[in-house]
Amino acid sequence: MERPARLCGLWALLLCANAELSETQPPVTNLSVYIENLCTVIWTWNPPEGASPNCSLRYFSHFGDKQDKQIAPETHRSTEVPLNERICLQVGSQCSTNESEKPSTLVEKCISPPEGDPESAVTELRCVWHNLSYMTCSWLPGRNTSPDTNYTLYYWHRSLGKILQCENIDRKGQHIDCSFDLAKGKDSSFEQHSVQIMVKDNAGKIRPSFIIVPLTSHVKPDPPHIKNLFFKDSALYVQWENPQNFSSRCLSYEVEVNNSQTETHGTFYVEENKCENSEFGSKVTSCFMVVPGVIADTYYAVRIRVKTNKLCYEDDKLWSNWSQPMSIGKKPNSTFYITMLLIIPVIVAGAIIVLLLYLKRLKIIIFPPIPDPGKIFKEMFGDQNDDTLQHWKKYDIYEKQSKEETDSVVLIENLKKVSQ
Ligand SMILES: *[C@@H]1O[C@H](CO)[C@@H](O)[C@H](O)[C@H]1NC(C)=O
Ligand SMILES: *[C@@H]1O[C@H](CO)[C@@H](O)[C@H](O)[C@H]1NC(C)=O
Ligand SMILES: *[C@@H]1O[C@H](CO)[C@@H](O)[C@H](O)[C@H]1NC(C)=O
Ligand SMILES: *[C@@H]1O[C@H](CO)[C@@H](O)[C@H](O)[C@H]1NC(C)=O
Ligand SMILES: *[C@@H]1O[C@H](CO)[C@@H](O)[C@H](O)[C@H]1NC(C)=O
Ligand SMILES: *[C@@H]1O[C@H](CO)[C@@H](O)[C@H](O)[C@H]1NC(C)=O
Ligand SMILES: *[C@@H]1O[C@H](CO)[C@@H](O)[C@H](O)[C@H]1NC(C)=O
Ligand SMILES: *[C@@H]1O[C@H](CO)[C@@H](O)[C@H](O)[C@H]1NC(C)=O
Repeated sequence: MERPARLCGLWALLLCANAELSETQPPVTNLSVYIENLCTVIWTWNPPEGASPNCSLRYFSHFGDKQDKQIAPETHRSTEVPLNERICLQVGSQCSTNESEKPSTLVEKCISPPEGDPESAVTELRCVWHNLSYMTCSWLPGRNTSPDTNYTLYYWHRSLGKILQCENIDRKGQHIDCSFDLAKGKDSSFEQHSVQIMVKDNAGKIRPSFIIVPLTSHVKPDPPHIKNLFFKDSALYVQWENPQNFSSRCLSYEVEVNNSQTETHGTFYVEENKCENSEFGSKVTSCFMVVPGVIADTYYAVRIRVKTNKLCYEDDKLWSNWSQPMSIGKKPNSTFYITMLLIIPVIVAGAIIVLLLYLKRLKIIIFPPIPDPGKIFKEMFGDQNDDTLQHWKKYDIYEKQSKEETDSVVLIENLKKVSQ
């Protein structure tokens, strides 16, 4: 009874060893990597040598830090990455798509960022797709760069078929930007593909920088266009046209309404859609909103801006410029105010003068002036000059002298009388 049992145990061991051997496949061979376009990285490999014939080969792969695991029958894998950092792929083979099956030894192949001092690379590289018709990218120079560095920007999108160079590099102080045409394609897959961007310098002295711009975000629409404003049932109706090629349900709206009379300033966020295709077959949609509780026939100024929303796009951060403002109602006449501003002080001053004169008259009537001869004399000679003063002094002396003379004459006459 003991022997068969032992034999069975041994068999089991052998079977288990066998099973383990058949499970793990030999590693893949000839793993290699290359770059297409600007940042499309492609890894390829060959099937393992000496794989078990009954194995339907599958390849297990993931990026450096165990991201994006994938089990697939193809002997290649590609991804779009900005090549500013090192990126690695690890590949192993197995016999099924079962995730719990242990793959062969993993083989790794990496791609390094371009040569050069990382401090020399441009910074703050970002791009905005304007109006679904052109893209503008901007950046700042790196820290270790000479100020006369001449930058070039290359871009690639599937619809272009090749890498193109941006022609209109523009510098405003530290800020550098470049714009290139990229019109929304007719076919719906256009936006599924990102734009690959590389910025480097002509002389090859700085490290190239990369960015991948998905076309389902980074969209800045053109401003809308206000068509009409009118009052109806103590409400203000605002009618506008959306920017071309944008479906109204893909946009969020902000309407600003100012009332100059009450100096109120209202902002309305239009969530529900009140839009329709204005003309048959036209891409332009016409929308309207109602501002309630307005004072009819007073002056209102209105402007609108739009941004993409999460219904159709991945981000909703970029507002369009404001539309041209439109106004309704009678504007308070500014020249009238200015004239009033000038006239009122004149009138007030006039009134004060008249009042003062009137008060003086009143005073004269109530308190008639008492004649004051001294005052009149003072008034008469109030402003004598030195000459006349001296003259008066002389006159004084003369008078005194003549008086003394008269005195002495009187004295002599008296003496004569006494002597007689
Ligand atoms: C690997 O590549 C070399 C040369 O390209 C080729 O000779 C060899 O057969 C390849 N190995 C496999 C397993 O395909
Ligand atoms: C492989 O499959 C064939 C037919 O399906 C079978 O006859 C053969 O025994 C299998 N070989 C191994 C090693 O499993
Ligand atoms: C995968 O393998 C595990 C154990 O080897 C097994 O339990 C499981 O059922 C398998 N799953 C599939 C989908 O075959
Ligand atoms: C916005 O795009 C439309 C359609 O592509 C175009 O007709 C229009 O001129 C563009 N607006 C600006 C300001 O470029
Ligand atoms: C950039 O271009 C200008 C004019 O073409 C040239 O004078 C200057 O030397 C260039 N700068 C560098 C760093 O090559
Ligand atoms: C964008 O609008 C213009 C003008 O209406 C039109 O010619 C063009 O075909 C539109 N583009 C798309 C992708 O719808
Ligand atoms: C509304 O008022 C604000 C603040 O006073 C001003 O910045 C804005 O331009 C005005 N808008 C319109 C449409 O006049
Ligand atoms: C938006 O406003 C900026 C700054 O005022 C101006 O430079 C730019 O041309 C405007 N864009 C459009 C599409 O009108």
